[in-house]
Amino acid sequence: MMKKYLKYIGIGLAVFLIVAQFFPIDKTNPPADMTKDFISMTNPSAQIAEHIKVACYDCHSHHTKYPWYTDVAPISWWIKGHMDNGVKHLNFSKWGEYSQKKKDHKLDECIDFVEKNWMPLLTYKIAHPESKLTDDERADLILFFKSLKGK
Ligand code: HEC
Repeated sequence: MMKKYLKYIGIGLAVFLIVAQFFPIDKTNPPADMTKDFISMTNPSAQIAEHIKVACYDCHSHHTKYPWYTDVAPISWWIKGHMDNGVKHLNFSKWGEYSQKKKDHKLDECIDFVEKNWMPLLTYKIAHPESKLTDDERADLILFFKSLKGK
């Protein structure tokens, strides 16, 4: 009896996984105006620029890179959800469009989230070990964010 159910569950799952592949995610990056880009505008050291690109830009800019597993549904849907949600809250490609007040507020949040180690997201750090910043690297990043406030 139990075996029969398991067989149906297995078939159902297989059908779901096959059908899911017909719904790929949209991987087009919207155009990015580099004159409004956070790194272009704030001109950090090469090292800090690299950290921000590696640790934040996949979810908070129009420069998202899509690794092979973003071709595999339903994982791809879940990852795309993080990207869409991330860029909605903070878009480094549209930094130049933010008012001074909004910039300062986003910088405060960046400082807070990096201090608490909430960003980059844990699952992202597991998939991208290079995005894991050391305590010293995080401290440098925080200092940089702080230096931009009010400017
Ligand atoms: C894997 C994707 C991902 C990466 C990488 C990532 N974030 Fe996020 N980030 C998100 C998501 C998703 C949210 C929205 C969280 C929520 O819904 O509360 C968010 C929210 C934020 C917020 C809050 C904005 C707001 O208005 O609430 C800040 C600030 C932030 N991220 C900064 C960073 C910084 C700085 C980095 C790099 C050190 C980074 N994030 C890396 C996905 C990411």
